[in-house]
Amino acid sequence: MSTLLQTLGIGLPIIQAPMAGVSTPAMAAAVSNAGGLGSIGVGPVGAESARGMIATVRAATDRPFNVNVFCNHPAVVDQSREAAWLARLAPVFRQLGAEPPARLTEIYRSFVEDDAMLAVLLEERPRVVSFHFGLPPAERIAALRDAGIVLLATATNLEEARSIATAGVDAVVAQGFEAGGHRGVFDPEAHDDHLGTIALTRLLVRRLEIPVIAAGGIMDGAGIAACLLLGAGAAQLGTAFIACPESAADENYRAALLGDASGHTVITTAISGRPARCLANRFTALGDEAGRGAVPAYPIAYDAAKALSAAAKAAGETGYGAHWAGQGAPLARSLRAATLVAELQSEMEQALSRRRVYTTSGESP
Ligand SMILES: Cc1cc2nc3c(=O)[nH]c(=O)nc-3n(C[C@H](O)[C@H](O)[C@H](O)COP(=O)(O)O)c2cc1C
Repeated sequence: MSTLLQTLGIGLPIIQAPMAGVSTPAMAAAVSNAGGLGSIGVGPVGAESARGMIATVRAATDRPFNVNVFCNHPAVVDQSREAAWLARLAPVFRQLGAEPPARLTEIYRSFVEDDAMLAVLLEERPRVVSFHFGLPPAERIAALRDAGIVLLATATNLEEARSIATAGVDAVVAQGFEAGGHRGVFDPEAHDDHLGTIALTRLLVRRLEIPVIAAGGIMDGAGIAACLLLGAGAAQLGTAFIACPESAADENYRAALLGDASGHTVITTAISGRPARCLANRFTALGDEAGRGAVPAYPIAYDAAKALSAAAKAAGETGYGAHWAGQGAPLARSLRAATLVAELQSEMEQALSRRRVYTTSGESP
């Protein structure tokens, strides 16, 4: 068993990605019970809700699992941009028979300043905690490490990955451009090279001393096997789990993912204020028209998006949902999470054994 799997306390190199609002404690427990690493995303919820979610996972499994927090820079309020964005969205709200919110707020508290969340993590001590959108201050990393918690963090390029390794995080999640949901970029205003999963995984495996977990566009066991051959210690899959019955995705989201819409994903900032990969829909088209400068900061923009999605859903319009998905979306399956993990394992083993076809001596190429 690899060092990474020993550190994480799991038998399979399969991590179910934390997906705030989509993954659930039931999903995390099912994946962990099946031998992978289940994850819950507590980025958008308060400390006490996070404590409740951790308890729910623990009631269903005694295996290790991961708790994911957001480490974005707290939002800078720009009232004129927010008012202009609401004015732009107002006709869409009215077409749906609703009124836009009067003002927008920063709906999530970043872990970088959330003392209550840190206290819950230190008290509850999940085996693994992972960071998205950057890193927390060094004291928070030290406190979590001192509590014996294994730490992971997302990187989208070598520079972010190096800062993760230097900060004392145990392993890096190499998130390629194919990935569904929010890009883990540290600074959403900085240049983004849009590195794909193969290039990024290889780059980080060759340049870093810490283990690499590949993420982005991995939908089946052949994809996981490919990542292992690239030198990754495990693969992290998000979109592959969205259609599981344990997911919190609503009917419209599942229908889009399992229908023709799955063939078209785009990166948009219009929904939350940060770049994220979504199934192309009316909301992403609206974002394309508006241009990036028009959208308020993360997560202030998300406040408007949640109101618009709710108004659209109430009016029977499905085109304004935050239907996050990666480029592998057409390969999504609606299996129970435990069944999906078993399928992924068997496909991975088949793919790894097929690899011998390409060697003449039977030895590794
Ligand atoms: C619906 C959805 C929600 C996500 N939410 C989070 C999150 O809360 N925290 C996080 O670290 N990553 C989140 N991600 C990104 C995943 O960790 C991972 O990078 C991505 O799912 C990998 O690409 P794939 O979806 O093609 O498998 C999310 C992804 C999706 C699809």
